Amino acid sequence: MWRLFPQKNKYVQEEAEFHFDPAGNIPKHVAIIMDGNGRWAQNRRLPRIAGHQEGMETVKTVTKHASKIGIKVLTLYAFSTENWKRPTEEVNFLMQLPVDFFDKFVPELIKENVKVHVMGYTEFLPAHTQDAVKRAIEQTKNNTGMVLNFALNYGSRAELVTATQAIVKKAQAEGVAAETIDESMIADHLMTGFLPVDLRDPELLIRTSGEERISNFLLWQIAYSELFFTDALWPDFNGELLEMAVASFQNRNRRFGGLNLPVADEHQVTE
Ligand code: FPP
Repeated sequence: MWRLFPQKNKYVQEEAEFHFDPAGNIPKHVAIIMDGNGRWAQNRRLPRIAGHQEGMETVKTVTKHASKIGIKVLTLYAFSTENWKRPTEEVNFLMQLPVDFFDKFVPELIKENVKVHVMGYTEFLPAHTQDAVKRAIEQTKNNTGMVLNFALNYGSRAELVTATQAIVKKAQAEGVAAETIDESMIADHLMTGFLPVDLRDPELLIRTSGEERISNFLLWQIAYSELFFTDALWPDFNGELLEMAVASFQNRNRRFGGLNLPVADEHQVTE
């Protein structure tokens, strides 16, 4: 784990960690809770929005690096349904960020073959933000590489409520029996339903800034995700730390509730 030494204002590796293997198992879907912009700015006696501005630069760096190492879907928590509670000035700035980001960065996204998607209650975003989002989706729609999926005005509980409402409506209209409602039907109705089935659930969830909570993000989809928490504040996150998170993932023993027995033991069980 990387620890922040505030006096030196830098990250040092505290203990021997695993090495990133570019030819090893790369998580297909990585989701990130980008936290710590405000503290990054505060540490520099800057206004909070300076942290978000720098955070946007990190989004560019991390997007390019994620695409380079072969991640197929990168989902970034950019604005939650709860973030409206912040001061108007900050909310306005956060609503302008996608406009600036896409206006400047789309040519590079096209060059990198990255396809933009946005999930969330986008209809409640200001018109200029909605327009920027629609434009970026349109401009990158023919790209076939990594999906850059922004969660914008997203909340997982709201997503589950919306999915449940849609399923109940369908059941009422088509006379679907309650017993036929299964996990795949629910997954189809979530905001990750646009992705191919094997890419919907993040294999790795990263949260920056030392906070270790999920904050209403992808509650259904992270049922079996590996979690990686780092003290690095989001503006300080980079390709190297992404590789460290992936290296940690590569050394996890994922059992999905089953057993991962050595070959000899496996024989004992089956015989
Ligand atoms: C959390 O940090 C961060 C956010 C609520 C906003 C995240 C947005 C970005 C990183 C930029 C997004 C870029 C695009 C292109 C949409 P915080 O403000 O809660 O930090 P704190 O916990 O230190 O106060």
